[in-house]
Amino acid sequence: MRARTIFRVVAALSWAALSAVAIAGDAPARPSTKTANENEIERGRYLVAISGCHDCHTPGFLATGGKAPQKEWLTGGVMGWRGPWGTTYPANLRLYFQEINEAQWVQLAREIRRRPPMPYYSLNSMSEADVRSIYKFINSLGAAGKPAPAFVTPGKVPPQPYVQFPDKLK
Ligand code: HEC
Repeated sequence: MRARTIFRVVAALSWAALSAVAIAGDAPARPSTKTANENEIERGRYLVAISGCHDCHTPGFLATGGKAPQKEWLTGGVMGWRGPWGTTYPANLRLYFQEINEAQWVQLAREIRRRPPMPYYSLNSMSEADVRSIYKFINSLGAAGKPAPAFVTPGKVPPQPYVQFPDKLK
């Protein structure tokens, strides 16, 4: 390639690069368009997914390998968990979170104790920032579904379906 041709090619490329920069400069800055609140909601979505809340609080989640549509997320379990504690039903968190405010949830998450198999101790050890993100996410989903069935006392046989734990747990 002759020197003059090389110069032309380089000049053309530089012009193209400069135009690209100019175009990019005109475009709205994408990464900063999400508000702080939206970022927290996204973090809550992630935390709920990795900390297993769906496993019990989203109907059918465990049995289908997580194939529940978002509209059914966290609407509570209709399957009972029966053991020496009685039969418990995972609460409808879509309704629950409409009834409490964020400050109440922060306090609750720190102190909550519930019957098995609710892993309340996981909530107790979460950072306040994570607990707040979970609140914002679940609350953003809005109310849906019906309240979970009522607790059944030990010794009483609940209706199907339920999971039976052994009487002697250890
Ligand atoms: C292994 C099943 C299981 C998992 C996993 C689970 N829960 Fe639960 N959860 C339950 C059951 C069962 C109850 C009802 C316990 C009772 O009746 O005492 C419950 C109750 C609750 C309650 C109390 C509702 C009320 O009415 O007082 C909250 C809040 C809650 N769960 C939030 C969560 C969150 C948030 C996660 C994820 C970090 C989660 N749970 C994970 C089974 C589960």
